[in-house]
Amino acid sequence: MNRKLDFWIPQFGADEKALVADVLDSSFLNDGEVTTQFERQTAELLGCRHVVATTSGTTAIFLALAGIGVGAGDEVLVPDVTFIATANAVTLAGAKPVLVDVDPQKLTIDPQCIERAITPRTKAIVPVHVSGRAADMGGILDIAKRHGLLVVEDAAEAFLSKHEGKALGTFGVAGCYSLSPNKTITTGQGGLIATDDDRLHVRLRELKDQGRPERGSGGDDAHNSIGYNFKFTNLQAAVGLGQLRDLSRRLERMRDIYRGYAEGLRGVRGVSVLPFCIEGGEVPQWTDVFVERRDALYDQLVARRICGRRFWHPLHTQAPYRASDELFPNSTKLVPHAMWLPSAFTLSDADVTAVCGEIQEILA
Ligand SMILES: Cc1ncc(COP(=O)(O)O)c(C=O)c1O
Repeated sequence: MNRKLDFWIPQFGADEKALVADVLDSSFLNDGEVTTQFERQTAELLGCRHVVATTSGTTAIFLALAGIGVGAGDEVLVPDVTFIATANAVTLAGAKPVLVDVDPQKLTIDPQCIERAITPRTKAIVPVHVSGRAADMGGILDIAKRHGLLVVEDAAEAFLSKHEGKALGTFGVAGCYSLSPNKTITTGQGGLIATDDDRLHVRLRELKDQGRPERGSGGDDAHNSIGYNFKFTNLQAAVGLGQLRDLSRRLERMRDIYRGYAEGLRGVRGVSVLPFCIEGGEVPQWTDVFVERRDALYDQLVARRICGRRFWHPLHTQAPYRASDELFPNSTKLVPHAMWLPSAFTLSDADVTAVCGEIQEILA
C-alpha cells in the first residue's frame, strides 16, 4: 500500500479544542459541571437513568463490582477471551475471577459453561461484548436470575452498540464503557458506568469521590463511607462532549467498514469474517476475522503496511490467571486464529476493498 492503513486512529477536531479552551478559561478543571453534562448526554444516548464517569474502563468495572458489594471471598465469572482488564478489575475488588470458556461462533462467554462454573461463592457474572458483539444476554440473565447472581456488563468495546434495539451495557445492574484511544469516542483515558439503579448510582458517586455522594467543597464535607479518587475532570468531559458531536458519522463508518469487509471477503478461502447483527443495532468496534494461518497473514499484511491486531491471548494462558488448556477447549482452539482487520474511521471504502484484495492475493 502507498499509505499505511492503521488498525485505529483517534480523531479530534475544532469542537474538542474549543470546549477544552472554555474549561481552561473557567479555571475549574476538576470533576464538575462539564462532567455532569457529559454524564447526562451519554445517559440519554444509552437510554438509562444514570451514567457515572470515571478514570478508565478498568476502574468502571471495579467501581461497579465494589458498588454492588463484591469483595473478598466472592467469585466473579469472567470470559477467558477478553482484555485482561476485566479480570484485573475483579481482582482489584478483592474477589476471585473465575474464567469461563467462550461460544465458538461469537467468542463471548458461553452460558452453558457459566452453569458449570457456579459455586456457592459466585456473586456476579461479567459478560464482555467483544468487538461490540452482544454476548448472549438472554441466556446470561436467565442463569443469573435462577442462581441469584448480579450481572455487570463489560461493554468497554460496545458504546452504543445495541442488541434488539437496546444499548449493550444496559441489560445488567450496571454496564461499563471505556473511553481509551481506540474506542468509538475517547477522552484519552476514561470510563463510564451506566445504571438504572438509583441506590447504586449514589454508591458509585461515593466510591469515586472519597465517600461523598455529592460533589464536595474540599473542606467540611460529610464522608458517608470509604471511597477513592476516580474522578473524571471537566477537561476530559469537554473532549468527550466534542467527540459526541461526531458520533453518528462514526457509528455509520464503523458499520460500513464491517460491511465492506464482509462483502469483500465473502467466499475467500482461509478467512471468515465474524458476523455482526447490524439490523439489531450492533456496531462493530473493529472487524474481527478467523484465519486458518493467522500469523502468516498478519505478518504479510504488516509487510504491506496494513496494520491489524492479533487477538489477546486467552486469559488462562497469562501468568496471573494461568490454568490448563483442557478447561478451555474453545478459546484454546480458536483464539490463535482470531485477529482484527484495520478498522480506523479514516479508512475509505476503497481502502477496505484494497485490504480485501491484498488478503485474497496473500491467501492464494
Ligand atoms: C473488553 C475490555 N474490557 C476492559 C477494558 C479496559 O478499559 P480501559 O483501558 O479504559 O481501562 C478494555 C480496554 O480497552 C477492553 O477492551
